[in-house]
Amino acid sequence: MAQKKQAAKKPIATKKAAVQKTERKTQPKTESKPSVSESELLLQSLRGMRDILPDEQPYWERVRRSISNAAQEYGYSRIEVPMVEYLHLFVRSIKEGTDIIDKELYSFTTRGGDRVALRPEFTAGIARAYIQHGMSVLPKPIKLFSMGPVFRYDRPQEGRYRELWQGNFDVFGEDDPILDAQVIQLAYRVVRELGLKDIEFQVNSIGVPESRKRYEKALVRYLESQKHKLCQNCRERLSTNPMRILDCKEDKCIQLTSQAPQALDFLDDESRAHFKSLLEYLDELELPYSINPRLVRGLDYYTRTVFEIWSSDREGKKYALGGGGRYDNLIQELGGEPTPAIGFGLGLDRIVLEMKRVHAKPHEPVRPRVFLAQLGDLAKKKSLRLFSDLEKNGILVAESFGRGSLKAQLRVASRLGVEVTIILGQKEALDETAIVKDMISGTQETVRQDKLTDAVKKILKSNVQLSHSSPKN
Ligand code: HAM
Repeated sequence: MAQKKQAAKKPIATKKAAVQKTERKTQPKTESKPSVSESELLLQSLRGMRDILPDEQPYWERVRRSISNAAQEYGYSRIEVPMVEYLHLFVRSIKEGTDIIDKELYSFTTRGGDRVALRPEFTAGIARAYIQHGMSVLPKPIKLFSMGPVFRYDRPQEGRYRELWQGNFDVFGEDDPILDAQVIQLAYRVVRELGLKDIEFQVNSIGVPESRKRYEKALVRYLESQKHKLCQNCRERLSTNPMRILDCKEDKCIQLTSQAPQALDFLDDESRAHFKSLLEYLDELELPYSINPRLVRGLDYYTRTVFEIWSSDREGKKYALGGGGRYDNLIQELGGEPTPAIGFGLGLDRIVLEMKRVHAKPHEPVRPRVFLAQLGDLAKKKSLRLFSDLEKNGILVAESFGRGSLKAQLRVASRLGVEVTIILGQKEALDETAIVKDMISGTQETVRQDKLTDAVKKILKSNVQLSHSSPKN
C-alpha cells in the first residue's frame, strides 16, 4: 500500500536524464548487413515487416470480423489510440528490465525534439487515454477493445515480426475474479470460433508487488547459488529483472528454473483467494487450462492473474497466440485514480498462421451475381451510371469496363459464374434500354433502363426460390 501511494505521487513524465538513459539503452545495435544498392532497398519492405497481400486477406478478414463480433457480444467499445506516444509512457508502464523496453522499442526524437516511440502494445496507450479523458467517471466496468499494428524490434522469423497485429481487450474498474474468468472465456470464444481447436490456456498468479518482492528475493537466493549455470543474459537479469529468467528459452536456464521456488507459494492471502476463485470459475466453464507456475509475462505491469493462450501443434512448434492478465496498479502508477484492470492481446499474425496450419476456413466474400457488359463508346459512358444505380439498389455487380470486346467480357462473366448478365450496346444506350440475360435458363429480354433493377431482382429472386426448392443430393 505504501508503495502504491509513493507511485501515485510521481508525475507521468520522468526526468529528462532518465529518459535519455532509456533512449540510449533502447537504441538497437546496428545490424551488420550485406551492402545493398539504394535501388534494391527501394524494392523491399523492411526486415520483419511484410505486406499482407489480397490473397491472404480472407483469413485476416475472418479474424477481424470475429474479434469485432466477440467484442460487441461481450460489451466492449472500440477505441483507437495513436501509433506513436511519448517514450516515457511505455517506459513507465512496461518498465526497464523487460525485453520490450530494453531491446525492442522503436524510439526516436521528432523534429520538434520530443522523445517518442512506436507503440509496442496497446495497453499503455489505452491507460493513458483512460486517464486523459477522465473515463473513471463512467459506469464501471469500462470495456475497451482495439485492433491494429504494434512494433517490436524482435529477431524476425516465422510467427515473429517487427510489425505485428494485435486484437486487444481491456476492462477497467472491476477486481472480481469473475471478470478474469470472463476475459479468458472471451479469448477462448475468439480462437474457437476461428476454427482453432488445439488450444491450451496457461494461467498463473504473480500476486501483488509486496508478495512479488518476497518471491523475487527467494528466487534470487536460489539462482545466485548456481549463477554459473545461467546464460549470459540471465546472469544480467539476476540483478535487473530476475523474474524474466523464468521466461528464458535457453535449455540450461529452463533446467535450472524448473527446480526454482514458485510464485504461487509466496502469494498473499487475498491473491491466493482471488486465484482460487478464478480456477473455480474456469473449471465451471470447462476451459482447457493448466497452471504454469513459471508464467510471468514479458511486461512488468501485471499483478495477480496472468495467462497465455498457446497453440499445441503436434509437430512440436508452439506459438503463444495471445496473453494478458491483471494490472491493478498501472492506472494509479501513471497518475490516475486507483483502478483495477485486466486485459489481453491476441497476436493476429500468429492466429492467421495457425488457421492455415489447421485448414480453418477463410472469410468468404459475397460474390456478385450480376455482370454488366458494355459495347461501344456511348454504352461505355452510360455504364458507370447504370453500375451505380444497381449498386444503390443493393445489387452487387461485377464488370470489366477496361475490356472493349464483348466476347472477352462475357468470358469474365462466365468465369465468375454470375446468374444475370446485363448487356449495354450502342443501340440500347441510344434507346435507354438494356439486354438482361438469365444465365441459368439462357433466356434474355430487352428492358427499359428505369425498369432494369426490377427485372434483375426478379430473376435473382426466382433463382433463390429454385435453389431452395430443388432436392439436395
Ligand atoms: P504480449 O504477450 O506481449 O501481450 O503480446 C500478445 C500477443 O502478441 C502474443 O501472445 C503474440 O501472439 C503476439 N506477438 C507478440 N510479439 C510478437 C511478434 N514479434 N510477432 C508476432 N506476434 C507477436 C501484450 O502485448 C499485452 N499488451 C496484452 C495485454 C492487454 N495485457 C493486458 N491487456
